[in-house]
Amino acid sequence: MIDLTGQVALVTGAARGIGRATAVALAEVGAAVVVTDIARQVDGLTYGTATGDDLASTVAAIETAGGRAVSAVVDVRDHAALVSAVEQAESAFGGLDIVVANAGVASWPTSTWQATPEQWQTMIDVVLTGTWNTCRAAIPAILRTGRGGSIVMVGSTAAVKPLPTIGHYAAAKNGLVGLLKSLALELAAASIRVNAVHPGGTGTEMTQNPAAEHWQATAHGVAGALELPMPIHRMEAIDVAYAVRWLCSSEARYITGAQIVLDAGATLQ
Ligand SMILES: NC(=O)c1ccc[n+]([C@@H]2O[C@H](COP(=O)([O-])OP(=O)(O)OC[C@H]3O[C@@H](n4cnc5c(N)ncnc54)[C@H](O)[C@@H]3O)[C@@H](O)[C@H]2O)c1
Repeated sequence: MIDLTGQVALVTGAARGIGRATAVALAEVGAAVVVTDIARQVDGLTYGTATGDDLASTVAAIETAGGRAVSAVVDVRDHAALVSAVEQAESAFGGLDIVVANAGVASWPTSTWQATPEQWQTMIDVVLTGTWNTCRAAIPAILRTGRGGSIVMVGSTAAVKPLPTIGHYAAAKNGLVGLLKSLALELAAASIRVNAVHPGGTGTEMTQNPAAEHWQATAHGVAGALELPMPIHRMEAIDVAYAVRWLCSSEARYITGAQIVLDAGATLQ
């Protein structure tokens, strides 16, 4: 049985969706969790990002499950804010062992080459630079404990198979793969493992909103499947959370530099 008692986790984008499910799943098996999120609208997006109430609901869900959590409003584009959240983990819970770099955004241009510079930049800033910021803020604290740790990046099947029209998203998620491979080797001697999960279509507010649904309905004329049909039913956030939790556990103690494709078989086709 997975037991993370005594460990401290920090999750980005934890106010809802996959981030919330992961934070609660980690807390259920004993981890104390710092839940972070931008908790306001990200400029330029055509769907709503999480609110302060959403972030408070994650803390409440953890406490209801008998766990311990504190929250921090953090934009992953802001390295200093991430450093403050890491300091909060150390002062509230005595260290940092687990980091889940989950925060992400979506946008749906007509085609990749027609994405606006703002769509491109926001994607790279949040998904790729935000993950790098999360790692560089957290790694010194994990090293300070001297007991190793686990970093999990939430990628996407966009890093596994081509996704026409959202190449900016694919570029950012593919960028994470290069980052995780370098970090996995650099940090192995300190027993810090670095892995990714690549979810396929998962039922969250990122995929269940009018802008995403319009994309699903209209972009299928472009060569190549868009959202690849799943051989088994659409996944929920908890399914991703369980894989992340397993990667953070001692059961995965020799797994580093790995990418778990979690897509109900979609990319097999
Ligand atoms: N839902 C899917 O089908 C799917 C598939 C593959 C990968 N993913 C990835 O999973 C992760 C979580 O997405 P989700 O589906 O739960 O969507 P979601 O929109 O419900 O959750 C994303 C969270 O990130 C937060 N966020 C956005 N920008 C931020 C920033 N700059 N700083 C801090 N927080 C920020 C949002 O407020 C939100 O709470 C993302 O990285 C996404 O790309 C999702």
